[in-house]
Amino acid sequence: MHKKRVFSGVQPTGNLHLGNYLGAIKNFVDLQNKFECVYCIVDLHAITNRQDPNELKSNILETIASFIASGLDPKKNIIFNQASVAAHSELAWIFNCVARIGWMNRMTQFKEKAGANKENASVGLLVYPNLMAADILVYKATHVPVGEDQKQHLELTRDIAKKFNNDFKCDDFFPIVKPLIPKEISRVMSLRDGKKKMSKSEDSDQSRINLKDDKDLIDQKIKKAKTDNDSIPSEINGLKNRHEAANLISIYASLNEIPVDKVLNEFGGKNFSTFKSKLSESVVEKISPIGKEIEKLLKDKKYLSSILQNGSKRADIIATNNLKEVYEIIGLTKFS
Ligand code: TRP
Repeated sequence: MHKKRVFSGVQPTGNLHLGNYLGAIKNFVDLQNKFECVYCIVDLHAITNRQDPNELKSNILETIASFIASGLDPKKNIIFNQASVAAHSELAWIFNCVARIGWMNRMTQFKEKAGANKENASVGLLVYPNLMAADILVYKATHVPVGEDQKQHLELTRDIAKKFNNDFKCDDFFPIVKPLIPKEISRVMSLRDGKKKMSKSEDSDQSRINLKDDKDLIDQKIKKAKTDNDSIPSEINGLKNRHEAANLISIYASLNEIPVDKVLNEFGGKNFSTFKSKLSESVVEKISPIGKEIEKLLKDKKYLSSILQNGSKRADIIATNNLKEVYEIIGLTKFS
């Protein structure tokens, strides 16, 4: 049996949005009172695509600022950046030798991100899931809060853990992790196209609500958000194939921590303009204080760096210890 431990990772993008908050960070905040949690800014994953070094640096600080502004407690949780703890990369190499090429080729995220020209994608992008498995398993984490789109990577993490345990006859050495996917919203979609994930890379800023947007901008973006001509249904079935409507309803449910059917009870039969003004109020109430706090924290880069330094030290102790066991199991010796 393994001790319960939560691990999750977020890529360092500047300008985090409502999708990052509701899909990941809010869930992290809820978990911090129930589990021992390790939260990582996955900067090594970020460089699977080319990054501008200065931008990368400031994006890492902006991500940590968003974590803290959203209510993550750096004393309660271990919060750090991946590059600070070498054991992630070392275990990832070992997993490169455990996982099979066929497993990598099946990953839908790779296919999507590599696009038509697969031959020209970085090798790092292909083995991205092995580094993710290493992130999790180097802490022997048991629970991983992620969005729906990361489920396949977690399956792969389980396959790697099973194969390692089996190949090296060390039953139960690595835990078989469980995903923790938020109930009311598994992913936040674009405000312009309910079939696309809300994303920093979508050209139009109207497609997303950034944590740093002010009240006027939030009101305006929600007012303009795409819907359809029908009114709000009273039952969940009525949201079928109404992706934009379903998205706005789930955002409201998730922000207010109420089930979707309760939202439909309240707004069923009403038109979207009534609902949208309520939604705007909720977004402003929950998001604006976070945005303001991010701006404030970004003025104190020393403080932000000290959080990462502290968290990295704590993470390194656990990870180095576990990695030592792995080396022993596979017959490698570090003479240095
Ligand atoms: N791949 C995840 C994403 O894009 C980020 C990530 C990296 C992660 N390592 C992880 C998530 C470990 C959970 C656990 O969202």
